[in-house]
Amino acid sequence: MFIGLDLGTSAVKAVAFRDHAVVASATAALEVVSPKPGWSEQDPAAWIAACREVLRELCAHLGSAASDILGIGLSGQMHGAVFLGADRKPLRNCILWNDSRSAAECAELSRRAPSIAQTAGIPPLPGFTAPKIMWLKRHEPEVYAALRHILLPKDYVGLWLHGGLETDRSDAAGTLWLDQEAGAWDVGLCSASDCDIAWLPPVHAGTEEVGAVRSTAAEQTGLPAGIPVFAGGGDAATGAVSVGATQPGRGFISLGTSGQLFLCTDQHRPNPDKYVHAFAHTLPDGFYQMAAMLNGARPLAWLAGILGCSVKDLVEEAVRASPARAPLCLPYLTGERSPHGDPDIRGAFYGLEDTAGRAELAYAVLEAVAFSMADATESFGDSLDDAPHLLAIGGGTRSDALLQLIADVTRRTLGRGKSAEAGPSVGAALLAAAGAGAIELTDLARSPDVETWFEPSDPSPEIFERLDRYRELYRCLKQMPASS
Ligand code: XUL
Repeated sequence: MFIGLDLGTSAVKAVAFRDHAVVASATAALEVVSPKPGWSEQDPAAWIAACREVLRELCAHLGSAASDILGIGLSGQMHGAVFLGADRKPLRNCILWNDSRSAAECAELSRRAPSIAQTAGIPPLPGFTAPKIMWLKRHEPEVYAALRHILLPKDYVGLWLHGGLETDRSDAAGTLWLDQEAGAWDVGLCSASDCDIAWLPPVHAGTEEVGAVRSTAAEQTGLPAGIPVFAGGGDAATGAVSVGATQPGRGFISLGTSGQLFLCTDQHRPNPDKYVHAFAHTLPDGFYQMAAMLNGARPLAWLAGILGCSVKDLVEEAVRASPARAPLCLPYLTGERSPHGDPDIRGAFYGLEDTAGRAELAYAVLEAVAFSMADATESFGDSLDDAPHLLAIGGGTRSDALLQLIADVTRRTLGRGKSAEAGPSVGAALLAAAGAGAIELTDLARSPDVETWFEPSDPSPEIFERLDRYRELYRCLKQMPASS
């Protein structure tokens, strides 16, 4: 049995995985703090507390079977910067993947390293790790002066579990410091962004063993001490592993706090104009392209929170709405990465009439989540044509209505498997199993059984008119700063 531990943004999730099935799982919620508009941070101590809680719960649930655990694989939200001092303790909160404070530093980095998108696979945007260090140097020089190590979020969990400073290819890929083709830190990109390469951990394949569970972490959780910890991957790559997207032509969509459209490629294939990321996969070799949407299915959770209902009830209301009375919505609550590369845009409702009620607002948001996937599909051009269908993972896959709408507007067949919601944690467990030799690397290409297929239907033509207007609305609103 193997454990997959995924440090998400809104929750930590752990699964126990045996014989291709999840046998137990536990989750604990996380909060994001936003000290200023556009800022997004978390306290690494809160991650460790949540990891302790989920692992304790999982091991308690497993009872005596916990002694069968043979290893643990890690997964996590990408791009965040955990700043550590010489004592390996955090110097401040982690700045997350959806933080937009470092736009000026991105412009500066593009000037200093004009070919960065070819090497690092994507042009500089504030969510990535490198410009955060430049921001730190400029705005918190005392923290910068004390900086000795930089870790990605899941690797800070690794530090607690096994005591080492390590990372994997796919998480390193999201920093802007990795030469994607070489799979190694690029000295020039580090120095262009005020980062000492010595602050960065060694880069491993996701299946590599990077340490063993320390006795302190074992005592706090119930995990057997000394079991191997495997490097794992960033949540995009571990999500891919969970659905067998490990070979060229295989793809999936993810609908979580963020959204992704992911396609495995045979080599490093940058497509920077549309902000399609070209990153190293977590497997020993392998690459992928990804449209990464900062808002995913979260706008639904956001509106449900405001209206005081569950996302499920909100979607049921949306389905009963009259689309002709619904406003258009831009879902860009925290700016947008693919396809706009626009940290300044914000969400909007446009076209409100006094006949619009809760149901119409809910419909507008549901539709906007689907439209962001239509934009993602379009930015891939014809490279998606090789993928016969796309599997779907993440909390947003609970909604049949959302998946059908996405199938309709993207004209792609979508499939939802049994462990669709668990996604990255399952991928992390599979990487651990492959690393330990319990399964073959080729087994990672196994697709989960699909329980429900969503074929593109023939929706009314109005939906495509609304999609055109949605795109036009972005073009109009991007001229207008959301804040002064
Ligand atoms: C991927 C991305 C998100 C985060 C948080 O580029 O930004 O997937 O990893 O989930």
